[in-house]
Amino acid sequence: MTRHLLTLDSLGRDGILTNLDLAAQLKARRGMARTTLDGGRVGLIFDKPSTRTRVSFEAACWGLGMLPITLRSDELQIGRGETIADTARVLSRYLSAIVIRTFEQAKVEELARYASIPVINALTDDHHPCQALADVMAIREEFGRFDGIRVAFVGDGNNVSHSLIQAAGYLGFTLAVATPSGYEPDRGIVDAARAGCAVNGGAIELGHDVKAAVRGADAVYTDVWASMGQEKEREERARAFTGYRVDSELMSLAAPRAIFLHCLPAHRGDEVTDEVMDGPQSRVWDEAEDRWYTEAALLYALITGHDQWERAG
Ligand code: CP
Ligand code: NVA
Repeated sequence: MTRHLLTLDSLGRDGILTNLDLAAQLKARRGMARTTLDGGRVGLIFDKPSTRTRVSFEAACWGLGMLPITLRSDELQIGRGETIADTARVLSRYLSAIVIRTFEQAKVEELARYASIPVINALTDDHHPCQALADVMAIREEFGRFDGIRVAFVGDGNNVSHSLIQAAGYLGFTLAVATPSGYEPDRGIVDAARAGCAVNGGAIELGHDVKAAVRGADAVYTDVWASMGQEKEREERARAFTGYRVDSELMSLAAPRAIFLHCLPAHRGDEVTDEVMDGPQSRVWDEAEDRWYTEAALLYALITGHDQWERAG
């Protein structure tokens, strides 16, 4: 059966841990691996802007000897009415995998339903699983474990926080999510992650009190207040998120060794100050770098079905 990454549920605990192991081994080799993927081709479809996801996937393809073909939907016949199903069938004849960033989660799922090659969700309005893999890689690099780790997510309960909540459920760390009222994460995602925490450890805490979430945290995470596609809500959101800025004062409530994470792009001065972004606790550049290795490991595992790197040669 073709394996996809639609949300982190597609990987589960074992798949995430395998991804982290493969990614760590690849990082030691600067992203280069000679495998049976050599000569493969990956289509990257973007309906929204991207810096990290696009470039890290292209770098990941190159490191594995595959050709990345980056496309926008409005350059494809999808923009003129060709169905997603027919597009999936045709692209499956040329490519080894499809990576797609779009608005609706349903569109990614439809593509996957008709593709005979892996489809990877590179961000929708509801999920950003590739980001969460890099986030947990950065956390493991810092602390060497998930057990007993407390992460505070301060901001909007949408795509990035949803994937982080799923990661907490599978890996068993505590995630305290502080959002303004009306911006809470999806209840179904939270309930499923709580069921995961009951088995794997950790907990999902929800609330509106930023300080309570951050107090004693090992990592403090934030994201933009207005996501891609929400530009018109910018002012309304700036009002709603007043008090949700991560600054040095807020960071001082976290554990002494706490790190700061952000999926990026950051809107400096809104959700985070320059002082925190550029300060000694910030791990945002390492986190961004880890996108490359986790994505390469993902492409490898989904396309080949292997959970170990092949021997070089
Ligand atoms: N974090 C992230 O996905 O960044 P881009 O939007 O630049 O890809
Ligand atoms: N929540 C943000 C994440 C960007 C990587 C957005 O969807 O724009």
